[in-house]
Amino acid sequence: MIRSPLMTVMTDAVMKASRSLKRDFGEIENLQVSRKGPGDFVSAADRKAEKILRESLEKARPDYGFVMEEGGVVEGRDPSHRWHIDPLDGTTNFLHGLPHFALSVGLERDGQIVAGVIYDPAKDELFIAEKGKGAYLNNRRIRVAARNDLADAVIACGLPHIGKGDHGLFLRESSVVMGYAGGMRRWGAAALDLAYVACGRLDAYWERGLNSWDVAAGILMIREAGGFISDADGGSNPMATGSVACGNEVLHRELVKLLKKAKG
Ligand code: IPD
Ligand code: CA
Ligand code: CA
Repeated sequence: MIRSPLMTVMTDAVMKASRSLKRDFGEIENLQVSRKGPGDFVSAADRKAEKILRESLEKARPDYGFVMEEGGVVEGRDPSHRWHIDPLDGTTNFLHGLPHFALSVGLERDGQIVAGVIYDPAKDELFIAEKGKGAYLNNRRIRVAARNDLADAVIACGLPHIGKGDHGLFLRESSVVMGYAGGMRRWGAAALDLAYVACGRLDAYWERGLNSWDVAAGILMIREAGGFISDADGGSNPMATGSVACGNEVLHRELVKLLKKAKG
C-alpha cells in the first residue's frame, strides 16, 4: 500500500517516539526491584515520547495545534487542524512490565478525525487509518469481526479504579453484559482496545471516562474498518463525551441496548 504524505509524517513521528519508549520499557524490569518504584521513571518516559512526537509533527506541519495528555492544549496558527496525542496509552501495563501499551495520534480537521495511527511497540503492530481510505494493520487491510451473536462475542471493557469513575455504574453494566457475552476482557490500553475491535480480535468494547487522546485515532480506525462507534449511551460524539461503545453494526446496537438496560 502507498502511504499518503500525511500518513508518512504521522507514522515517522510515532515510530521515532516508540524507539524511546521501547528502550525505557526494557529498563522497567530492572526498576521493578527497586523499592523507590518506577512511577517517576515512567512519567519521564511518557514525557520524552510526547516531546519527540510533538517536535516531529511540528516540524512537518508547523501550524497545527495539539491536544496532548501531558502537555495540554496548544493552539496552532491553523485553527482547523489539531493533533490528539497519547504518547503512552496503557501506563499501568508499562509500569508493571506488561507488554501491552501503545502510542496514539489522531488528526482532527474541522471537528472530524481524518487520520489515526496506533502503534504497539512490544508487538510491532502498526494500525493506521485515513478517512475514506480504510484501516490497516501492518499494511494489511482490516475489518471488524462478522460475529452477530453476543453469546459468541468477546467484549472488552475499561474498569474504573481507585479515585476514578463511577464504580457502581460499571458493576451494573458489567453484570448485565456478562449475562449475554461469550467472554469479557480488560486489557488496559484503550487505544489498543479500539484497534483490536477494528481488526476483529475483539467483537465489541465499551468504556467511560476517557479523553480525546485515548480515542481519536481509534474512532476513525473502527469506522474505516466498517464498524460502528458511539458514546456509551448511544450518542454520536464519543470524542466529546469521553465514553465509547463499538463493534459491528449488530453488536454495537446490542451492546448499547445492554448498557441502557444497566443504567435503568
Ligand atoms: C488509560 C488506558 C486504560 C483506560 C484508562 C486510560 P493511560 O490511559 O487507556 O485502558 O482504562 O481510562 O486513562 O493513562 O494509560 O494513558
Ligand atoms: Ca497516556
Ligand atoms: Ca490513555
